[in-house]
Amino acid sequence: MAVEPVVYGASERPPRGDYSRARDDYTCPQNWSAYTEADHDTYRRLYERQSALLPGLAAQAFVDALPALGVRDRIPRFDEINERLRPATGWEIVAVPGLIPERPFFDLLAHRRFPVTDWIRTPQEFDYIVEPDVFHDLFGHVPLLFNPVFADYVQRYGQGGLKAHDLGAGELLSRLYWYTIEFGLIREPQGLRAYGAGILSSSGELRHSVTSPRARRIALDLVRCMRTRYKIDDYQATYFVIDSFEQLFDMTAPDFTPIYDTVRALGELPADASIASDSPITLG
Ligand code: PHE
Ligand code: FE
Repeated sequence: MAVEPVVYGASERPPRGDYSRARDDYTCPQNWSAYTEADHDTYRRLYERQSALLPGLAAQAFVDALPALGVRDRIPRFDEINERLRPATGWEIVAVPGLIPERPFFDLLAHRRFPVTDWIRTPQEFDYIVEPDVFHDLFGHVPLLFNPVFADYVQRYGQGGLKAHDLGAGELLSRLYWYTIEFGLIREPQGLRAYGAGILSSSGELRHSVTSPRARRIALDLVRCMRTRYKIDDYQATYFVIDSFEQLFDMTAPDFTPIYDTVRALGELPADASIASDSPITLG
């Protein structure tokens, strides 16, 4: 076997997925012919349910780019998506057997290669799955890779990740990934919208994050965000809000070395913390 499987976060379960298929960089061929009719049907039903939920809740750039995924009645071939993605932003998607370790993950992103899990959840897991599968990765993450500014942010994140890894700050930076790329909200002219993949691929959290008066929403602040622990098995207690992808890109341009020192000095916060310096975002 070329690579070791990764054990993710607090999870004690062995990771799902066959890592014996992986190359040294953790990528593998998309085993398209191995999908069953039931697999394609699961994808079709997930796509149908989720796309119907988007109006008024999903970021406009996401809604605009979603059709670029192509077929919706079966699991797409990654090669076909790449024929559209490469000319759009220079990104490509690559298949992986499941979650991969921090360093190779950052390395792929730094080279504009987005890892997409190739297996799909079982029908029993239709509503909820902790680990990313092909539906989460494709539907949630890939549309915004067609947006030039967001695409540049994800590459910059990968480059910053390699540096953070060497500084021992990978875990701190992973919180920024979590609260932006996975669970980010954005203020648009029409109101608050979701752009994070974890929200956009979830049937329940999409409405909750954008509309629930019980959700805590604060303006994104790098130090506050990287201090904040997160939930991997429940709706987020706190969402961080941006005003534009340009703002996110510009905010992450500076050298993070002193920012990590500040984050460490201040210490971590529970997922549901409220602190005096927070700028709460109120619903329209
Ligand atoms: N600019 C940051 C640094 O120098 C890295 C970074 C980029 C972090 C983008 C997050 C997102 O460390
Ligand atoms: Fe994800």
